[in-house]
Amino acid sequence: MHIELRNVSHEFELETGFLPVLENLSFSVPKGKFTAIVGPSGCGKSTITRLVSGLLKSKKGEVFISNEIVNSPKSTVGMAFQNPVLLEWRNILDNVILPLEIVSKSMNKVEKINRARELLSLVGLAEFEKSRPSELSGGMKQRASLCRSLVHKPEVLILDEPFGALDAFTREDLWQTMLTLKKQESFTCILITHDLREAIFLADEVLVLSGRPATLQFQLESKLGDNRKLDDLYTNETTKSLSILRKQIEIAQKHK
Ligand SMILES: Nc1ncnc2c1ncn2[C@@H]1O[C@H](COP(=O)(O)OP(=O)(O)O)[C@@H](O)[C@H]1O
Ligand SMILES: [Mg+2]
Repeated sequence: MHIELRNVSHEFELETGFLPVLENLSFSVPKGKFTAIVGPSGCGKSTITRLVSGLLKSKKGEVFISNEIVNSPKSTVGMAFQNPVLLEWRNILDNVILPLEIVSKSMNKVEKINRARELLSLVGLAEFEKSRPSELSGGMKQRASLCRSLVHKPEVLILDEPFGALDAFTREDLWQTMLTLKKQESFTCILITHDLREAIFLADEVLVLSGRPATLQFQLESKLGDNRKLDDLYTNETTKSLSILRKQIEIAQKHK
């Protein structure tokens, strides 16, 4: 499913007046592609995820998914955030199944379990399906959260800094898991991140937003192909891309 923002502007009403957050923002993510969005803290990235997921309506401009205007939350969208918010009174399998209980009422229990197990095994959590969330490490919880966001086969996946709270090595593990999921499942993805290496490693295209009110400042295609490896992050070409992105972030921070 193709995602498109067309001339989107948004502002929040505060007691002290209006806070312009997005200004005339346009971009699109082709079906099946992965776009990373980076930009200064507070520039409006999470606001974009809320607009695309239909949790918020923009003041101006339109958001489309597959050429249909988004104006309410849709079950064709899956989301994962920095905080995995798993339910402690459910085991991992039942946490992953949860979205199916809400949106896939026609599936029987066995089908739901099989679908959840398929994903848990893909991310290396098969042996932990009976564990409680508190028994898992941060990285494992985030893996379970990714499974939960994909279990109902959403066509759009929105990730808002899902690896932001993890240590560097766990984060790299999760990047590889994300690539496995991307190969196995089909979704169009928007990833919000403040990690430029993560953006380059996972995405087909990286968008840099300006400071608030955010607009599209710069875009860069990732040259890494379908079989990317962590080593690709240390090539001269990637180093050049990272340096370009870092300069763009500096510009965005000055614009604030
Ligand atoms: N519901 C809201 N009401 C008022 N202000 C908000 C609301 N949500 C976000 N903001 C403000 O909008 C700006 C952008 O927020 P956000 O999209 O969360 O930024 P980012 O994710 O890029 O850090 C911030 O200044 C934030 O305080
Ligand atoms: Mg945010």
